[in-house]
Amino acid sequence: MDGIRGQTEARRRFLRMLVASPLFAGSHFLGNSLGNLLATNAVAGEKAGRLLDILQQSEDVISSPDQALDLMDFEIAARKALPPAHFGYLATGVDDDATVRANREGYSRIQIRPRRLVDVEKVDMSVRLFATIWSSPIVISPISDQKAFHPEGDVAVARAARAKDHLQIISTVATSSIEEVMAARGAPVWQQLYPTNVWEVGRAIVKRAEKAGSTAIVFTVDLQEGSNRETLFRAQLADKRECTACHQSAYTGYARPRPGGASGSFAEFVTRNPMFDGLDLSKVTQFRPVPMDWDFVKRLRDTVAVKLLIKGVVTREDAQIAVEHGVDGLIVSNHGGRAEETLRPTIESLPEVIEGAGGKIPVLVDGGIRRGTDIFKALALGATAVGIGRPEAWGLAAFGQPGVEAVLDVLRRELRTIMRQAGTSSVEKISRNHVVIRPC
Ligand SMILES: Cc1cc2nc3c(=O)[nH]c(=O)nc-3n(C[C@H](O)[C@H](O)[C@H](O)COP(=O)(O)O)c2cc1C
Repeated sequence: MDGIRGQTEARRRFLRMLVASPLFAGSHFLGNSLGNLLATNAVAGEKAGRLLDILQQSEDVISSPDQALDLMDFEIAARKALPPAHFGYLATGVDDDATVRANREGYSRIQIRPRRLVDVEKVDMSVRLFATIWSSPIVISPISDQKAFHPEGDVAVARAARAKDHLQIISTVATSSIEEVMAARGAPVWQQLYPTNVWEVGRAIVKRAEKAGSTAIVFTVDLQEGSNRETLFRAQLADKRECTACHQSAYTGYARPRPGGASGSFAEFVTRNPMFDGLDLSKVTQFRPVPMDWDFVKRLRDTVAVKLLIKGVVTREDAQIAVEHGVDGLIVSNHGGRAEETLRPTIESLPEVIEGAGGKIPVLVDGGIRRGTDIFKALALGATAVGIGRPEAWGLAAFGQPGVEAVLDVLRRELRTIMRQAGTSSVEKISRNHVVIRPC
């Protein structure tokens, strides 16, 4: 054990030396390259996230969205823009953050097989999701509490989604109401659902979303209480601001209150989440239903009048049961590595979920998607569309609506480029034959 610690410390010292050296000084490009190398093989098992933290202290930060070359530029800008605890909330995984990294690494094990001499003068990135055709397969995954990242929160995201024509999924714990978001989006958004342990509360959220015009309810099933979000807890400790100025209470289910900080009831905790406005929360103690089981899904299916999707399924077995319960779609997700430390990338779960769904319902995937090539690989493995979580929030935190638009632009540009390079002029033409999975 001491030997491993010694090695880790030696690596850290080495990295610090590298970062401090004139060769790396201020170079985000070199820092990123080294970071990518570290994140793949060289220091597997080590807390590469913290090493990357060191690298990302670089002053080499973009000052406008158009300067960004890739999505990671927005991460650095977001880190600079946000107080430590808020960035920690966005960045955190659980335990060693290894599943967060695994989500990324999964894509590096898939290689692309480009076909040549195919006419790709015109590239069509559109996909159909239920009755709607979207101009790209890039969906904005639900992110809670976005006003912690930018004062305009989900409304700015909705305006960006409107400008760039993307499907947006709004969190139950959004800090803007679905009505405001829908007005800003100018089209239906999907409503993510944490039903709580009180049926009437969950039902009221569903009915409010349907009334507002939401065309799908996305029931998230991958989060139990008490995830060990160590990176968040450390960031909270590092943040010397007085949190109680904004946070009236801390909900111990998901975020441990910092020592000496306030703690309180569920109702106090969600005062800034408009989806709970006007509801009787006196008996609500948690976000998830109790018990969270397939009977609950059946009950929900009977209640939801629009499409019902389940987010967080990662196995063939659960996909099969979901289809049997009349679910309309699945999102393969591990909550961006923030729920449990499985070490299993969502891109590796995708094929078995698709198999379990048996081609009967659409299957989306999110987690670790940072490049157009990642999207291409997910589509080649059979995903109908993909979701992005943190990157959208990085763009928002750094530059508000223009930042989110730029994130979407970069991803679309990268996807178009790889589709052309691989000889695929439309999403339907991207097939399993366009990728090979490298043996471990
Ligand atoms: C700060 C943050 C808040 C999130 N809030 C929710 C949420 O309210 N509901 C939900 O279903 N998923 C939530 N997620 C998970 C995302 O929807 C998505 O599954 C995940 O971020 C995808 O991984 P990525 O961040 O690597 O793209 C959240 C993720 C983050 C980073």
